[in-house]
Amino acid sequence: MRVLSGIQTSGKLHIGNYFGAMRQYLALQEKGEECFYFLANYHSLTSVRSGAELRDYTLEVARGFLAVGLDPVKSLLFRQSDVPEVTELAWILSCLTPMALLQKCVSYKDKVAQGLSPNHGLFAYPVLQAADILMFSSHLVPVGQDQKQHVEVTRDIAMKFNNAYGEILTLPEPYILSTVAVVPGLDGRKMSKSYGNTLELFEPAGAMKKKVMRIQTDSTPVEQPKDPDKCILFALLTLVASEEELAEWRERYTQGGMGYGEVKKRLVELLNELLDPFRARYEELVKDPDYVEDVLRSGGQKARAIGQELMEKVRSATGIVRSNITN
Ligand code: ADP
Ligand code: TRP
Repeated sequence: MRVLSGIQTSGKLHIGNYFGAMRQYLALQEKGEECFYFLANYHSLTSVRSGAELRDYTLEVARGFLAVGLDPVKSLLFRQSDVPEVTELAWILSCLTPMALLQKCVSYKDKVAQGLSPNHGLFAYPVLQAADILMFSSHLVPVGQDQKQHVEVTRDIAMKFNNAYGEILTLPEPYILSTVAVVPGLDGRKMSKSYGNTLELFEPAGAMKKKVMRIQTDSTPVEQPKDPDKCILFALLTLVASEEELAEWRERYTQGGMGYGEVKKRLVELLNELLDPFRARYEELVKDPDYVEDVLRSGGQKARAIGQELMEKVRSATGIVRSNITN
């Protein structure tokens, strides 16, 4: 089973990305699936307007994947732009994509509502995503609920292509990462780099502690019972505490006699237990950019070779002729 997913390189990774996506990508790797994970830097051009920033974020997300456990021997890690044919495929697919299909996409509307510029790239974003997925004949696409529609659009586009040109593209299935509910940010909204409410995956322990200590809680006095299901701290605790420990905290919330300061302290401890090894590995990778670059280059070469095979078929079926050039 070929698994493929991408993460935009438009900011620093946060624990929402880890629990909501990356941890589950790694589980698929450990299950022995053939995994392709890539840095969606072309997609990130829809929101990042500085070349230096895009370069930094791309490297940062690559380090992030490696630091949390992506094993380049087992999985392919690559930059989207190292397979430039993906933009060619996106164009070919866009000629088969009905406007109405894209007009239905809620992610475009959400992003415009958040203040992103309503340009053609943002509108055509799902077609580029379809090209990413179809280029490698992916079977399974692990994504959050918000991206399910884009995988459905991909299936629709692939069907249109196959109807017109023959059975060349593989129809993917979404694999919805729903075991973890949305991770809340410091202000209780969804943790997101666009809201500036994140706990970064690789920030120093001291900085993270300060942020946790400053999380706003309600003003229920220590003696009184509290509702764990309305508490950001408890929601964060569910990510890192064992089931037994969580059950104990639930008791303590509902019984009363517990202050939020205690929960914060334990939350920081548990976060550090999980994150310390990631931070250490991340720091090693900061010192070794050549290694990260080697991984990306070799992943990109392998991915591109696979993509080029598909593109041969696509060009031949669609009647696109090229001179015999190698690049
Ligand atoms: P952001 O909202 O910070 O821009 P992205 O949209 O780049 O994050 O998300 C990358 C991946 O991380 C997606 O698969 C998404 O579902 C997951 N993800 C992001 N934020 C959260 C969150 N708060 N809770 C759970 N998963 C999340
Ligand atoms: N749109 C995805 C997101 O914002 C990122 C992405 C780009 C992607 N191409 C992809 C995810 C292909 C899965 C498959 O999270």
